[in-house]
Amino acid sequence: MLSANPPGARHGGVTPDDILRAAALLRAGKLVAFPTETVYGLGADATAPEAVAGIYAAKGRPQFNPLIAHVASQAAAEAEGIFTGDATRLAAAFWPGPLTLVLPRHASGTACDLACAGLPSVGLRVPSHPVALALLEAAGRPIAAPSANRSGHISPTDASHVSGDLGDAVDLILDGGPSQVGVESTILACLDGVVTLLRPGGLSVADIEALLGRPLDKAVAAGIQAPGMLASHYAPNAAMRLDATSLKAGEIGLDFAATFGDGSLDLSPTGDTREAAANLYRYLRALDARNPVTIAVAPIPQSGLGAAIIDRLQRAAAPRG
Ligand code: TXA
Ligand code: MG
Repeated sequence: MLSANPPGARHGGVTPDDILRAAALLRAGKLVAFPTETVYGLGADATAPEAVAGIYAAKGRPQFNPLIAHVASQAAAEAEGIFTGDATRLAAAFWPGPLTLVLPRHASGTACDLACAGLPSVGLRVPSHPVALALLEAAGRPIAAPSANRSGHISPTDASHVSGDLGDAVDLILDGGPSQVGVESTILACLDGVVTLLRPGGLSVADIEALLGRPLDKAVAAGIQAPGMLASHYAPNAAMRLDATSLKAGEIGLDFAATFGDGSLDLSPTGDTREAAANLYRYLRALDARNPVTIAVAPIPQSGLGAAIIDRLQRAAAPRG
């Protein structure tokens, strides 16, 4: 594994030459980990089944999970998926950014069946991190990228998390500094005339509903799910106890809004869900590294990015299997 930047470097440290080298590796079927505003992605050429297979192998990921195809622009996305009016408005408003749209695959789409897990739909995202955008531009093709962690582990929000988790399984890591959003993208399906939430994430439902001018459609259409959302996911080694208002003996705390107020690591002392999302995975890793039996987590509100944080915490707390 090569690292295009020393640990701790900020995205200003990734040079145009690094981007060209990374794009050439991707076009040659190699794996490149790159920063996005949500979490680090493990990228491969989405048009090449052998390259995509490398992602599944490196992550130890079940093959039935479809991957998000990352592209540099809405125009590039329109070559891969069929946009409804709602999808066009959502993309115009929130791309580049932490939103993934699941759309019917375009007849001329280039993302391969393995990347889409054989589904008639494709997940598309234009990330906003400047290094990601430059890389996608230089690669000139959709790049399949799940979070750059081994399957079931905590998602990486820093280049050092990627090297610690995947090591030599990845050909290059671009170090773009810590992820600003800190939780994965919000996934919306725009299929069969309805817009449904498949995964809460870095774009709040309130912002989406304000743009659409109506609530999201609640009914999840048959067969449309985010198969990657297995119950036990994002799991630390420690057990998790949610909605704790005080600590029991032997627990260590993950606080929010100074609920415990005892010096426990606090996701956001001021109760800001954006700040909490940005800190979530880093703090889970830091606490898990202390090898506690149980991490007790203070209540998080549903508002803003709270829904996404609660979703990830519930998965982290789910029985392991
Ligand atoms: O923020 C993110 O979304 C990050 C960064 C790297 O972009 N990526 C990410 O990818 O979280 P991953 O593979 O960990 O999660 C992708 C989710 C999975 O739950 C998968 O099932 C869903 O997207 N997905 C992708 N394509 C889909 C499709 N055609 N239909 C339904 N779900 C799909
Ligand atoms: Mg993931």
